[in-house]
Amino acid sequence: MIIETIKMRHSTRRFASHVLSEEEKSRIIEFFKSLPSLHSRRLDWQLRDLGKGSGTIFAACMDKPNCLVEYGFQGEIIVLELTKQNYASCWNAGIKETAAPAGIVIGKEEPGKFSINDLITNMGRRKELSSLVEGTLPEDERFLQILEACRLAPSSLNRQPWRFAFHNNELYIWTKPSILGEHHWIELGIALSHAFLVAQEFFTRVIIEKASGDRYRLVIK
Ligand SMILES: Cc1cc2nc3c(=O)[nH]c(=O)nc-3n(C[C@H](O)[C@H](O)[C@H](O)COP(=O)(O)O)c2cc1C
Repeated sequence: MIIETIKMRHSTRRFASHVLSEEEKSRIIEFFKSLPSLHSRRLDWQLRDLGKGSGTIFAACMDKPNCLVEYGFQGEIIVLELTKQNYASCWNAGIKETAAPAGIVIGKEEPGKFSINDLITNMGRRKELSSLVEGTLPEDERFLQILEACRLAPSSLNRQPWRFAFHNNELYIWTKPSILGEHHWIELGIALSHAFLVAQEFFTRVIIEKASGDRYRLVIK
């Protein structure tokens, strides 16, 4: 079940020294070709050694909401696939590759170590689901699991900017801008990927579409 992988994933900031073999690299790069898309947009994902972990995954992406949401969506699907394959990872906002809004550092975890960023981000603690949902929580256990998967999504500085609402069997997902008006498009895409993957295990046809404003809607057919 994908929810187990979602629960297992955490940001790793201390990596053991591990050089990716050619076979490992090809397997990872091959996976990029099978990525689903939210806006029918292909991103040219690369895996390079940028001096962190065993490698960093990134793509060029225009600084536009749709592209950034897509970036989070596809990037997190890569993260979860690598988690399944026993790689550790950490999204990284500080990479310098041209036009890449963030990178995903991957490798093998150095156990038992934590860093200052673990403390700054409150050791990854999450808000209560009820504080993120507008209106009432769904009664259907499957939608509760989808929401739980979204709640566990990673976010820059562990801000957890998501908001959710549930009406007529449709789940609405959006992010609350910061007081400086900063949007969290990548995080929106990340939460949508969690919702999409978990919903696919419960329902045969799952669609994510844009709703009004900056909201997305998960529709079950
Ligand atoms: C877009 C994005 C950028 C991030 N950038 C960094 C970063 O530059 N450095 C870092 O240590 N963690 C970074 N993180 C990881 C978050 O701090 C982490 O996801 C959050 O604290 C929750 O912890 P968890 O991933 O262990 O569940 C980033 C996460 C996201 C989604």
